[in-house]
Amino acid sequence: MIYTKILGTGSYVPSKTLTNEDLTSFVDTSDEWIVSRTGIKERHIVTDESTTDLAYFAALKAIDDAQIKKEDIDLLIVATVTPDNAFPGVSNLLQARLELNEIMTFDINAACSGFIYALNIADKMIKSGSYHTALVIGAETLTRLTDWRDRNTCVLFGDAAGAMIISKSTQDKIKDIICGSRGDTDDLLICKNTDIKDPSINAISQQDHIHMKGSEVFKFATRILPKTVNDLLDRNGITLEDLNYIVAHQANERIIDKAARDLSFSMDKMFLNISKYGNTSAASVPLAIDEAIKSNVLKKGDKFITVAFGGGLTWGGALIEL
Ligand code: ACO
Repeated sequence: MIYTKILGTGSYVPSKTLTNEDLTSFVDTSDEWIVSRTGIKERHIVTDESTTDLAYFAALKAIDDAQIKKEDIDLLIVATVTPDNAFPGVSNLLQARLELNEIMTFDINAACSGFIYALNIADKMIKSGSYHTALVIGAETLTRLTDWRDRNTCVLFGDAAGAMIISKSTQDKIKDIICGSRGDTDDLLICKNTDIKDPSINAISQQDHIHMKGSEVFKFATRILPKTVNDLLDRNGITLEDLNYIVAHQANERIIDKAARDLSFSMDKMFLNISKYGNTSAASVPLAIDEAIKSNVLKKGDKFITVAFGGGLTWGGALIEL
């Protein structure tokens, strides 16, 4: 039987920060509103960095943490909704920049659930016996898609990248992963591609921005987070008492708080770093896991569930032992 485990993690955020106070200079909001409704105090935003830049620095840290050679990596998957280009993908650009072997690389898009989707794919590709060591990344520059005049959305997002090295193992550490999606959700959370239907018209393309029906997404998130956790517990014959932590997608502290109350799980064991970064989409989960490990909140032998939801709608969860 082939099993998988985490060998190392890394993360990176751009140096520029934007505080709630900074936002009040160009949008009608307040620190009090943002903190009380979301838990966010500040976010990091790119200036001239690309998604590939953020992914590159997170990947270097994960490779260093895993104490492997770059030649050991035989698979690279990047989850992102903000690639630098339509093509080539971020993963393809990273292969060259990291000087990896000419391995299989690809990007996936599952919005904020993207990292868990990518982890699921890498995990199963390794368990198939065809691959040995994967670099899995969630990297986003969501602030490039943010409408800075829309106070309903612009206060929520930040930029970041998180990376994880997973490999073949004799011990069963990445125990179970589930993912799901539902597309009939009436544009609850969407950012459209530019759509030029008549090529004879020399239309100037304009980038769309994020549109969100916040309260509907909130309802969905507070339903799907506990459900995904309970599904993972049931499938694996364990209970909440067996978990040291839950590392949820950092979209809104109130969503995490409601999920904890509905699960009857202590908020003290729900990892939180949203106050510093906001919602960093596919980067949120690996950034949180990396920070939890590096700050010794998660220790070797600990069992945790990581769980996310995102645009689409999409969702996913993983049961992992360190
Ligand atoms: N500052 C001040 N007032 C604001 C702001 C703001 N930044 N934004 C909205 N308001 C106002 C609204 O206009 C509204 O005013 P009104 O009553 O006069 O119309 C009032 O505050 C309440 O607005 P609600 O939308 O009801 O506020 P709510 O408590 O639902 O919080 C929020 C909004 C934070 C967006 C919440 O709905 C939420 O977190 N939803 C989930 C969002 C999410 O997680 N999205 C990401 C998914 S992941 C991905 O894939 C990107």
